[in-house]
Amino acid sequence: MATALITGATAGIGAAFARLLAARGNDLIVVSRDEKRLTATAAELAEAHGVDVRPVAADLTDDADCATVATHAAEVDLLVNNAGMALRKGFTYNDLSDEERILNLNVRSVLRLTHAALPAMAGRGRGAIVNVSSVAGFAPTSPNSTYGAGKAWVTNFSQSLAPVAREDGVRVMALCPGFVRTEFHERAGIDMSGTPGWMLMDADFVAETAMRDLLRGKTVSVPSFTYKLIVSGIRHIPLNWWPTLATQGSKVMRRGYSR
Ligand SMILES: NC(=O)c1ccc[n+]([C@@H]2O[C@H](COP(=O)([O-])OP(=O)(O)OC[C@H]3O[C@@H](n4cnc5c(N)ncnc54)[C@H](OP(=O)(O)O)[C@@H]3O)[C@@H](O)[C@H]2O)c1
Repeated sequence: MATALITGATAGIGAAFARLLAARGNDLIVVSRDEKRLTATAAELAEAHGVDVRPVAADLTDDADCATVATHAAEVDLLVNNAGMALRKGFTYNDLSDEERILNLNVRSVLRLTHAALPAMAGRGRGAIVNVSSVAGFAPTSPNSTYGAGKAWVTNFSQSLAPVAREDGVRVMALCPGFVRTEFHERAGIDMSGTPGWMLMDADFVAETAMRDLLRGKTVSVPSFTYKLIVSGIRHIPLNWWPTLATQGSKVMRRGYSR
């Protein structure tokens, strides 16, 4: 059976990938920082699905930890670069160390793990990499935020690698969800109480759609018809409208309200 490595496998979208892949009989390597929760997650998955689940506790913003995870990434058939974070305040109100942390997790760890996995997969003539990006990467929807810029990088990076990787038998896909019910916003301290229910998807639906789109050979997966429409709308907005739209749409990030 194939082995998958999933970063951020203890919560939200990563946990949904872990459940889905384990239920399909894949062995797993699961990565996150909280060792106790990670060990419990691994034991639950192994018990429920009769597969081998190896926990690797690592902080992917840490160079040495990331290097350790990269050695595991070189051995697997499917890599899901999922761990990610957001910041509540705007760029000009954040410490540089916070901005570097989000860059290291959302961008640099994706680069490093893909760099370890892709040549190894290509050498074996098979494999797949799913990089979890976001609808937020399609346009500068949040003023004064670097989150969308990082996700734009993840999507573009995945699209750039996909055609050449395919020649070597490896699929690379960017997964670009809209809002998903997970711990993500709460961790960042972002209030989602005003977000209408129809804008929030379930993590299991997102993971299932991603695996279906990967099998279909897509290079970009946008789960749900609603978000496909939203993305199509976003991509047709003239570039010079964005400063006005974004300023009107989100005064929160602009102010850095919790300063
Ligand atoms: N939720 C949304 O609305 C949404 C929308 C679009 C895209 N996304 C993207 O989807 C991905 C997953 O988000 P989610 O909503 O599932 O988040 P989540 O519920 O907050 O889960 C995050 C997971 O990542 C792990 N993690 C966080 N920081 C880490 C670090 N430095 N090193 C290693 N592991 C780390 C967490 O475990 P530990 O805390 O134990 O490390 C946890 O397992 C992210 O890339 C996010 O940008 C989310």
